[in-house]
Amino acid sequence: MNTIFISGASRGIGLELTKQLLDRGDRIIAGCRNPREAGQLSLLKQAHVNLKVLDLDVDDENSVKNCFNQLNRNEECIDQLFNNAGIIDWRDLHEITPDSFTQVLRTNLRGAFLVMHHCLPCLKRSSNPWIYNMSSRLGSIELRGNTQLGGAIAYQCSKAGLNMLTKQAAIDLTEYGIKVASISPGWVKTEMGGENAKYEVSESVAKIIKVTDQLNPSQNGRFWGEDGAEIPW
Ligand SMILES: NC(=O)c1ccc[n+]([C@@H]2O[C@H](COP(=O)([O-])OP(=O)(O)OC[C@H]3O[C@@H](n4cnc5c(N)ncnc54)[C@H](OP(=O)(O)O)[C@@H]3O)[C@@H](O)[C@H]2O)c1
Repeated sequence: MNTIFISGASRGIGLELTKQLLDRGDRIIAGCRNPREAGQLSLLKQAHVNLKVLDLDVDDENSVKNCFNQLNRNEECIDQLFNNAGIIDWRDLHEITPDSFTQVLRTNLRGAFLVMHHCLPCLKRSSNPWIYNMSSRLGSIELRGNTQLGGAIAYQCSKAGLNMLTKQAAIDLTEYGIKVASISPGWVKTEMGGENAKYEVSESVAKIIKVTDQLNPSQNGRFWGEDGAEIPW
């Protein structure tokens, strides 16, 4: 049984990861911005003793610190961190506002950094720790070169930055045995992905779990799709 921390567990991919990993017997610590408004997560908590829900707003460093201080006080060990919380603004360079650009980077990039940073003591207690940063093919600079698709400029920059965080953290954490990977879940039917997306959320999450289960240390510091294929940076 692994102990797995998931940020942004109130809905979408984070909630489904929580469900599927609990069902197979893992212990889940779910970070959630507004636990009282996360009805489905509360129902899961009633049914599973292996689910702990903690307040976590990745925009707020005090919230991130408080969350991991609680875990560190109990010398908790975290085997896997899913850095999943994220937001999108679909607007392009012409239309997006500077404030919205900043907010997307704050949540998707700075937020992921804060969670990784404050989670380190818990990860160092694991014998096989992994960090999975929930990225997107929209963050691949190389794939952008192959298409004229516009829009979502802040989101794409945030995920490209997240990919660099993956690459550099994998190097910085080598001596501690902590492995880091970027994962793209594909296009998924969530509030973010919309109803026309390719995958049902259950389908995407089953694929993500299969991919992360099969990663080995030689695949550290790389970017993987839900289909198991490597994605170029
Ligand atoms: N859906 C797709 O097609 C797709 C494709 C590629 C990558 N992704 C990535 O997958 C991840 C999950 O996306 P999703 O589709 O599940 O999106 P979603 O349905 O919109 O859910 C987003 C989750 O992030 C949480 N969140 C947002 N801001 C937060 C903050 N400041 N602090 C804590 N939690 C916060 C939300 O919590 P609240 O309920 O409190 O708002 C919610 O739980 C994201 O990183 C996204 O970029 C998604």
